[in-house]
Amino acid sequence: MLSQRADSVPLLKILLEQKNRATAEHCERVMRYSVQLACEAGVTGDAMHAVANGALLHDIGKLHVPSDLLAYPGPLEDDAMALVRTHALRGEDLLRRFPGLRMKDIARIVGAHHEWFDGSGYPRGLAARAIPYGARIVAICDAFDAMTAGRCYQRPRSYAAAIEELVACSGTQFDPELVRTFVGMGERYFRISS
Ligand SMILES: [Fe+2]
Repeated sequence: MLSQRADSVPLLKILLEQKNRATAEHCERVMRYSVQLACEAGVTGDAMHAVANGALLHDIGKLHVPSDLLAYPGPLEDDAMALVRTHALRGEDLLRRFPGLRMKDIARIVGAHHEWFDGSGYPRGLAARAIPYGARIVAICDAFDAMTAGRCYQRPRSYAAAIEELVACSGTQFDPELVRTFVGMGERYFRISS
């Protein structure tokens, strides 16, 4: 997988590990799932490079979020949540500062990984095909890992429960075609920690 990574990615990854190890580990798993889903969906070449790196760096904007908020053991108040939500655009802005490293497509994925298929996501309210394909892939894998690995305030869910939730949110939060592909891949692709 190293060959898929842009030159500056290892450095950014180390910075995120130092900021919050759980977030960095989540990003690694999301990269693994995203590459599998992208592969199954027929993504190749430069587009696969963007998916792999976009997934690995999707939460890099959390470098700007105070560490105590990232580790907060419970649901956040509205103002704290608003601050956390800035990480999508912050991450995109950060990556756009690396010219000539094929970062533009990676930055677009990072900036759009919390958009919803029905247009009700953030930060721009993009819908359907206006959301970069790689971001639609990362969104599914991000949610899947958040559910199966759990959070500091939430117990991990089983593979079956996570799939049920993805299907329930297909067409609203997630690209329905990609959800079908993800479900079709089956459990063997995923190492579940629960
Ligand atoms: Fe995120």
